[in-house]
Amino acid sequence: MDVLNEDSKAKNGYGWGVYFPAAIGHEGTMKIGLATDHGGFALKEELVARLRQAGHEVVDFGAHELNPGDDYPDFVFPLARAVAAGELERGIAICGSGVGASVCANQVRGVRACLIHDHFSARQGVEDDHMNILCMGGRTVGPEVAWDLVRTFTEAVFSGEERHLRRLGKVEAGRG
Ligand code: RB5
Repeated sequence: MDVLNEDSKAKNGYGWGVYFPAAIGHEGTMKIGLATDHGGFALKEELVARLRQAGHEVVDFGAHELNPGDDYPDFVFPLARAVAAGELERGIAICGSGVGASVCANQVRGVRACLIHDHFSARQGVEDDHMNILCMGGRTVGPEVAWDLVRTFTEAVFSGEERHLRRLGKVEAGRG
């Protein structure tokens, strides 16, 4: 699971201090976690079912019932920590807009989460930026667009190219 971390240190020196816990690639299905608050509850339920049907191992971090008073950090932090720990290959974090989920997930070191609305970014975010958590808004994307984003995200693989490792190294080094 930690191949990139060791490779990047050994190959180019840009990997110092960089924590890349996720695998650089995968074949076919993966272990993937989902988390949402009430704002993305219906979408999360839909995606859990579709991902399982597609053969992925899915960990559902909740919410497990629709509760308009729940708070996205209570679900997104456990997901983000599991991704950062390498317990999951990827994560999907949803809230009403996806903004709160992405802000929350990125607080966890080792997470590279982004709010995605388009097909191009769902792929390039992984290939170039090693995105490991896809964030979406349950109130901003419909189920078919969301499923396209999820499939694109799960099929994409980080390139591991030197320029991207260099940039990711600078991102990590620039942490406040
Ligand atoms: C909850 O109403 C809503 O604020 C939340 O789901 C999310 O959109 C926050 O970014």
